[in-house]
Amino acid sequence: MKKNNKLNIAIVGLGNIGSYLYKYLKDNKEILAKKNNCIPNVIFVSAKNKNKKRNIKINKKKWLKNYLDATKSKDVDIIIELIGGAEGAAKKLVFSALKNKKHVVTANKALIAKYGDQLSKIAEENNVNLEFEAAVCGGVPIIRSLKEGLIANKINKVYGIFNGTSNYILSTMDKENKNFNDVLTDAKKLGYAESNPLSDLNGDDVAAKLKILSSLCFNSFVDHNIHVEGISFIDKLDIDNANKLGYKIKLLGVSEIINNKVYQRVHPTLIEKSSYIASIDGVLNAVIVDGKPVGQSVIQGEGAGPEATTSALVSDISSILRGNVKFPFSISIKERKKLRYQNISERFFSAYLRFEVLDKPGVLSNITNIFSKNKVSIKRLIQNPNKSKKFSSIVIITHDSKDKFLNKIIKQTEKKNYLIKKPKLIRIGAN
Ligand SMILES: NC(=O)c1ccc[n+]([C@@H]2O[C@H](COP(=O)([O-])OP(=O)(O)OC[C@H]3O[C@@H](n4cnc5c(N)ncnc54)[C@H](OP(=O)(O)O)[C@@H]3O)[C@@H](O)[C@H]2O)c1
Repeated sequence: MKKNNKLNIAIVGLGNIGSYLYKYLKDNKEILAKKNNCIPNVIFVSAKNKNKKRNIKINKKKWLKNYLDATKSKDVDIIIELIGGAEGAAKKLVFSALKNKKHVVTANKALIAKYGDQLSKIAEENNVNLEFEAAVCGGVPIIRSLKEGLIANKINKVYGIFNGTSNYILSTMDKENKNFNDVLTDAKKLGYAESNPLSDLNGDDVAAKLKILSSLCFNSFVDHNIHVEGISFIDKLDIDNANKLGYKIKLLGVSEIINNKVYQRVHPTLIEKSSYIASIDGVLNAVIVDGKPVGQSVIQGEGAGPEATTSALVSDISSILRGNVKFPFSISIKERKKLRYQNISERFFSAYLRFEVLDKPGVLSNITNIFSKNKVSIKRLIQNPNKSKKFSSIVIITHDSKDKFLNKIIKQTEKKNYLIKKPKLIRIGAN
């Protein structure tokens, strides 16, 4: 290694991830320098509150009072943004860094999903890197795999489990026979769920990751058209019913090209127990890519936490240390295209529908009539009367039907006075 072969780094954000990364880079500077033939040299750090107690020791000389100064300093080569959020300080920092010709590494999925196209244009014009491996599925190296290992392939589908919190909740409800709220409380205590886990539970976190993956897989701009449902409406009875029918319930993100149109969707899905994706439990993430000529590739691992996220961040930093200036989304912005989005209402699904009803004559035939009026054929029907005999739970599995007709059934039954709870629709299968 040449004596002065080093790149100077500023880390902005010293929370869970930033403080772990800072210590990692300090402890592993030598080995990283040997592997990359270039020294990763952290010269500045910054965060919101200088006086906050932290579990790392930082030389005061390294502290930048104004985090934006990192973007203007001629000594800084790489800026690592670990603040979070699509707006505010993170946005200002990353736009300013790229405009000032600094390489950027970020773990911020919200920022990349919202401003990835604009940011990649600036990065490309200024011939610097914008790296975001840590923004999608933590330690799972899916972005680098798409950009490098799988570069030969035309990808037509990417799907999987992209959110550890929701996967932990669904698999623990199943394994430990607990209800949604009890598992959520445990998840918060164990640090698997944030105090405000809204974006984990309502599907938004998966949606941001899926948008980024779609544009990388399909060489397209980030498409904000996406169908999103979360897991808060899933209860223990659905988990038990799924089990009896030979399924597990998973929150999936799926993006696929069919007839030159892109379908992007995030929703709970019944998955056959024997399938690979059904075996991904707890906080694990898994991404499956269908491409030609490779076929199906699967990559799984820890989706969050300082250790896994640091693994991804260091992969990005190393790429820059080695001098690999690449297009942030695999190909030049000039070559990326706008895909035609197709709403899932036109897509065919087999589905699980559940109706909680008053147990009285005529109800079942009324429901099955609504199915036949919507041309949805029934594959299986299970009726479980409540112990009191006053209520009954009807579960129907359909043959493949257009999503819009499945939803029409929900809308039409919802209005019936025999219904005692909102009916449910969960799509079946990842295909
Ligand atoms: N946690 C995970 O498991 C995980 C996994 C993958 C990706 N990520 C992503 O990693 C990023 C960081 O997450 P985190 O969990 O480390 O968050 P965090 O613990 O909340 O840390 C945020 C850091 O940003 C600093 N900050 C906030 N506002 C600021 C401002 N206006 N100016 C300068 N600094 C500011 C905070 O400063 P103070 O310390 O002074 O308050 C803090 O150090 C996010 O984009 C997140 O989505 C996290």
